Amino acid sequence: MPIQFTDQKQEFNKRTSNTGHRSLPHSISQSSTDSYGSVCSDSSEDGSSPRDKPRRTSKGLSDFCIKNIKQAEFGRREIIIAQQEMPALMILRKGAGGEKPLAGAQVVGCTHITAQTAVLIETLSVLGAQCRWAACNIFSTQNAVAAALAEGGTPVFAWRGESEDDFWWCIDRCVGAETWQPNMIMDDGGDLTHWIHKKHPSLFKNIKGIVEESVTGIYRLYQMSKAGRLCVPAINVNDSVTKQKFDNLYCCKESILDGLKRTTDIMFGGKQVVVCGYGEVGKGCCAALKALGAVVYVTEVDPICALQACMDGFRVNKLSEVARQVDMVVTCTGNCNKSVVRREHLDRMKDGCILCNMGHSIISFLVLHISFRHDNHSILIISDEYVASLHLPTFDAHLSEVTDEQAKYLGISKHGPFKPNDYR
Ligand SMILES: NC(=O)c1ccc[n+]([C@@H]2O[C@H](COP(=O)([O-])OP(=O)(O)OC[C@H]3O[C@@H](n4cnc5c(N)ncnc54)[C@H](O)[C@@H]3O)[C@@H](O)[C@H]2O)c1
Repeated sequence: MPIQFTDQKQEFNKRTSNTGHRSLPHSISQSSTDSYGSVCSDSSEDGSSPRDKPRRTSKGLSDFCIKNIKQAEFGRREIIIAQQEMPALMILRKGAGGEKPLAGAQVVGCTHITAQTAVLIETLSVLGAQCRWAACNIFSTQNAVAAALAEGGTPVFAWRGESEDDFWWCIDRCVGAETWQPNMIMDDGGDLTHWIHKKHPSLFKNIKGIVEESVTGIYRLYQMSKAGRLCVPAINVNDSVTKQKFDNLYCCKESILDGLKRTTDIMFGGKQVVVCGYGEVGKGCCAALKALGAVVYVTEVDPICALQACMDGFRVNKLSEVARQVDMVVTCTGNCNKSVVRREHLDRMKDGCILCNMGHSIISFLVLHISFRHDNHSILIISDEYVASLHLPTFDAHLSEVTDEQAKYLGISKHGPFKPNDYR
């Protein structure tokens, strides 16, 4: 189905009502923004909308909208610390030696606004690009960082705790400047791209391309492409090796613990945890939980990933087999929301069992009754997956099965192959 803006709005409402906020950042844990907010909040955070307030930087600029420009100094210190953690971007800045290889690039961006993305945005500017930026997530913006960006001259439209209306207003202010037109889009989730598509389609005449970071955004772009509505080239950053093998694995390895600790304050030692999905994110989560002494079970539909879990020392079970005993369920499948954790699983769970979703952000825990239908197919599978599946009985590993709905969602056959060739 082609992208429907109204559907996105409905999804938005669903998300806010189900989870209390629009979406959680991925590599950036909720907790890091929580702690940040408490450190740099001040009495000027009075709950009134930044849209209603006059604003000006110390140099007299007013083309931005953030919570509180007085926080700029604190935000700048955060950015300087982040620069130390991001040597690659800093090398690019140094390597340019004052030249402007990106001169002429007019980048409109919509990403999490954190110290790390500030380093990216300012690197683009140092290299000659003109940038305007909005937040892709209403709760991840670090207000002080947004203030530092604005004070540094970047037109930024974002604050923590935007309403839905604010969210689209900020995006529109980025896109719809009177004297400026973007020729590149940098997006995380596809909202900016689809706003331009819906509200300012004529801008695409100028736009040379889109860079998209998230699974969700990529999925939307593929849908647009299939419907013949993607009129500019797009770069799929999500599937790059450095994103998959580093961001998904190592960042989630850290943020799972950080997020759970701060939101639940539980001990992990001795807890029984089931991690659904042993892809990159699942591998990171399992390693982190195991390191803290949790007893970790894995569910998988792909025999290869299941075998990897076995070889890494995890028991592979169906969720129904372990639902009764676990203290925590962590979903990392990236699969459609309705059927990984089902009503029948919830019914079995202990009182107080924690449900945590590390998969992409449109997913929240929805409860549905689903009945499995086992077709009597004779299928000859020749693949690595078949070979891996032959090893699983040795580990007494019990493979999960994708439902028809899940298979359709992932664009795979119920019987495999479960991963594209380039996955390997
Ligand atoms: N929280 C974060 O910070 C963060 C960071 C990066 C990615 N993500 C998201 O996490 C999700 C997973 O990413 P990934 O890189 O690990 O993907 P992946 O494709 O490498 O792994 C997903 C795994 O889940 C398995 N799976 C699918 N359906 C299943 C089911 N019903 N039961 C059990 N297993 C099932 C697949 O076989 C696969 O091995 C994606 O939605 C991604 O966008 C989150």
